[in-house]
Amino acid sequence: MSKFQIYHHPSLPSTNSFALEQIKNHQINHNHVIIADAQTGGKGRMGRNWVSPMGNLYFSLVLKSPKTIAQNGEISFIASVAVKDSLREFDVSGSSEIKLKWPNDILLNGKKVSGILLESDGEFIVVGVGININSNPDNTSYPATNLENEGFARIDKMELLNKFLNHFENLYQEWLSFGFLPIRNLWIKDAFNLNKQINVNLPNQSLTGIFKDLDKNGNLVLNADGQEILISSGEIL
Ligand code: BTN
Repeated sequence: MSKFQIYHHPSLPSTNSFALEQIKNHQINHNHVIIADAQTGGKGRMGRNWVSPMGNLYFSLVLKSPKTIAQNGEISFIASVAVKDSLREFDVSGSSEIKLKWPNDILLNGKKVSGILLESDGEFIVVGVGININSNPDNTSYPATNLENEGFARIDKMELLNKFLNHFENLYQEWLSFGFLPIRNLWIKDAFNLNKQINVNLPNQSLTGIFKDLDKNGNLVLNADGQEILISSGEIL
């Protein structure tokens, strides 16, 4: 039997906000999953919205914080690898290159198909995942796509969710036992633009350099003019 308890809603403003609210009211616990068929106020990273019509997958997994706040950030890489591994289980007609874009986007054939938003109240962590199954917005800062558009056979949302939860659970246990390194090694294998020139947007500046590595804490290692810079949060353009 699955360890996860799934709560399925037809529509919510945001599964992450709902989960955070439930945490505040002590109505939710470790390994509970909130899924909504649609969201009216879906949230993305950096204060953006996440367009959430019916047909795509939107869910939040709630975890009791196992480590320090800094280490909990590593969970977003676990989730990225779990999304990638789940997508690889489906049949695809044509080529489908899945890449992981730092810090936690999943690209399919060069376009964003999934994003992850981690939120926390200190005691619990909410891992919010959105996967575009049959639609995507077309006015995003980074080009987007959806699974059906890229040749994936009709996808059953709950099957995709279950595959994700299985992969996530295995990776999560590995992380609890052995730390971030095994996760980092899985993530870097499919990193987008590794050893290539990238532009990274930081809150107050943007940097250009070669994407050299993901370090043992999940920082992006950028080589800019021969200098190594560690970036803990930002966005690759
Ligand atoms: C991003 O790439 O900007 C992160 C997108 C995260 C979207 C998911 S959909 C389910 C969960 N609920 C939300 O409001 N956001 C996350």
